[in-house]
Amino acid sequence: MFKHEGNFMSDSKLRILVFGATGQQGGSVASALLKAGWQVRAFVRDPASSKSVALRDAGVELMQGAFADVESVRRAMNGVNGIFSVQPSSGQGPTLGLTDEEEERYGIAIADLAVESGVKHLVYTSTGAVGAGPTGMGHFDSKARIEDHIRTLPITASIVRPAAFMEMLVMPGFGLDEGRFNFFARPDQQMQLLAVEDIGKFVAAIFADPVRFGGKTLEIASDTVTGRDLEALFTEAAGRPIAYSRFSDEVLTANPFLRKLTELLDEGRLAGKADIDALRELNPDLQSFRSWLAGSGRKAFIEALGKAGAWDYGHA
Ligand SMILES: NC(=O)c1ccc[n+]([C@@H]2O[C@H](COP(=O)([O-])OP(=O)(O)OC[C@H]3O[C@@H](n4cnc5c(N)ncnc54)[C@H](OP(=O)(O)O)[C@@H]3O)[C@@H](O)[C@H]2O)c1
Repeated sequence: MFKHEGNFMSDSKLRILVFGATGQQGGSVASALLKAGWQVRAFVRDPASSKSVALRDAGVELMQGAFADVESVRRAMNGVNGIFSVQPSSGQGPTLGLTDEEEERYGIAIADLAVESGVKHLVYTSTGAVGAGPTGMGHFDSKARIEDHIRTLPITASIVRPAAFMEMLVMPGFGLDEGRFNFFARPDQQMQLLAVEDIGKFVAAIFADPVRFGGKTLEIASDTVTGRDLEALFTEAAGRPIAYSRFSDEVLTANPFLRKLTELLDEGRLAGKADIDALRELNPDLQSFRSWLAGSGRKAFIEALGKAGAWDYGHA
């Protein structure tokens, strides 16, 4: 039923439980919440991992557990006011990801346990492709089902739908090491991108104002680019020419995963529909792809320029 409740940010000591805090989205959220004065508890699989230790050193309370261990999830929710829920997906490949069935089951279980535990505000992160019926991509449709379930629950909940991460573009395998960049968009086609660092800032703003954001679904992105923009921005940042083209027909025919994503972009489902001007009000430091490439993305970009590799995008 997606309740709306009063603003509880007046007590700066309230605690938020962050799932996936050793990962991209959860890490960004944990950092932004700490900065905003919340107590942050992270649900981690291995408290001794370097990322967990870095969180603890930054002032985050660690609670050990795993999605499949329901008791560990329940324990971690004890005494928390808010929850940030993220699950890995099959889109990340078999090493990092979950199956679509696991993703859905864990996303739903976390939401149900949040209700059971009396949590005041649940923020679930989905994906921008969700929202106009099934996409045919397992790791998008799993998120649609989690969203649908959350909307039936008696809890103040907010859903964010992130656009494609800027971080994904500098993973090896898109040709940067060969002076080219191949991606989904046609040269003149627009696509929204999101800096992972901005996710935390949006989510912190949402936790700060449950009256405004309770019951809301918010598309989030940092910038809009075309293929041609990517060519110009990569060329500028590399100091040498980077030629842009869409994945070739040959690549798309051979790879059903990429083909489906490209079709979804052409249908407008993956292009992103965030209102970036409105989002700038929530996060005045919103990053452009240019500023990201010159700043927090610089290291990964330089590495990608010198590193051949294949992004494991063979899985559907
Ligand atoms: N890439 C994009 O452009 C994009 C855009 C929109 C949405 N998304 C969605 O974003 C999600 C991934 O988010 P992300 O990039 O932040 O993921 P990520 O960086 O891979 O982080 C995953 C986090 O989940 C934790 N984790 C993994 N398995 C777990 C388990 N069994 N129990 C408890 N914790 C577990 C990991 O902890 P450990 O440290 O223990 O491994 C890590 O903290 C996916 O669902 C994807 O579809 C991605």
